[in-house]
Amino acid sequence: MSEPIFNIERVSYRYSDKYIGLRDINMRVEEGESLAILGANGSGKSTLLKILAGLAFPSQGKITALGRPLTPDALAGDFSCFFRSKLGFVFQEPDVQIFCPTVWDEIAFGPLQLDMPKDEVRQRVEDTLDMLGIKGLRDRQPHHLSGGEKKKVAIGSVLSLNPDILLLDEPTNGLDPRTQVWLFELLEGLRRFKKTIVMATHDLSIAEDLTDRVVVLNEEHTVVSHGRPAEILRDKDLLLRVNIIHEHTHRHGDITHIHSHGPFASHDEHDEKQT
Ligand SMILES: Nc1ncnc2c1ncn2[C@@H]1O[C@H](COP(=O)(O)OP(=O)(O)OP(=O)(O)O)[C@@H](O)[C@H]1O
Ligand SMILES: [Mg+2]
Repeated sequence: MSEPIFNIERVSYRYSDKYIGLRDINMRVEEGESLAILGANGSGKSTLLKILAGLAFPSQGKITALGRPLTPDALAGDFSCFFRSKLGFVFQEPDVQIFCPTVWDEIAFGPLQLDMPKDEVRQRVEDTLDMLGIKGLRDRQPHHLSGGEKKKVAIGSVLSLNPDILLLDEPTNGLDPRTQVWLFELLEGLRRFKKTIVMATHDLSIAEDLTDRVVVLNEEHTVVSHGRPAEILRDKDLLLRVNIIHEHTHRHGDITHIHSHGPFASHDEHDEKQT
């Protein structure tokens, strides 16, 4: 088997030596695969992505990235530049990510850091603004944008780098339907280009349609199952147990929604196909 992009062995992580973020995780990410991390709130999805991105380091266990140990020392040396040029991370909260005075600067920042010629940077920024449909926002202050607009800028600032490895934390959160469809198509395209994609999501249709493998975390912060999306998403007991679906969650084809069975229930249950 070829060298994985990431290999995680018995990794645990505690915040402030106290609060458990992850417990005894084993996981490989292969080159060119698209992987979803599913789990309830607080199960450890974002923590796991931060560990993969080298933004947090295991309290126990070890991680390698691109065949090298991912340690504070490695990221203080030569490996850092190489690793950072390969990897793009879209954070769950765009506010953490954006910091430039204008949207244009935000999207140009990564390519400029890579010492790309100015003309090429300009072209990349234009292409990215165009692709995201945010040309009109180019001179705006990122911090003054709406949540969804900020998310688009954060995604753009990563895409303009054209990284081989993409880590996406809840990429569809807060996006309107048109932008969600756009992101679906984009992820599909990136997958065809054999980019390595790891995303944390609550969106079961993304996991089903856009990934090769799903890793499930439980509320004790450890991996309880992994496998092909069709297999995992068919396992209703597992999804209920780990609090990814509720018994009032219903799936229609590839659309999941939750409806109340309380006084405001208005849903016709006759034609439901439950998974
Ligand atoms: N900065 C922090 N300090 C202390 N504990 C933290 C911190 N960040 C996360 N945690 C804890 O670590 C655990 C995992 O959190 P994490 O953010 O990884 O969950 P998540 O699966 O991404 O959840 P969500 O679906 O809500 O985004 C939670 O119990 C959380 O309370
Ligand atoms: Mg999270």
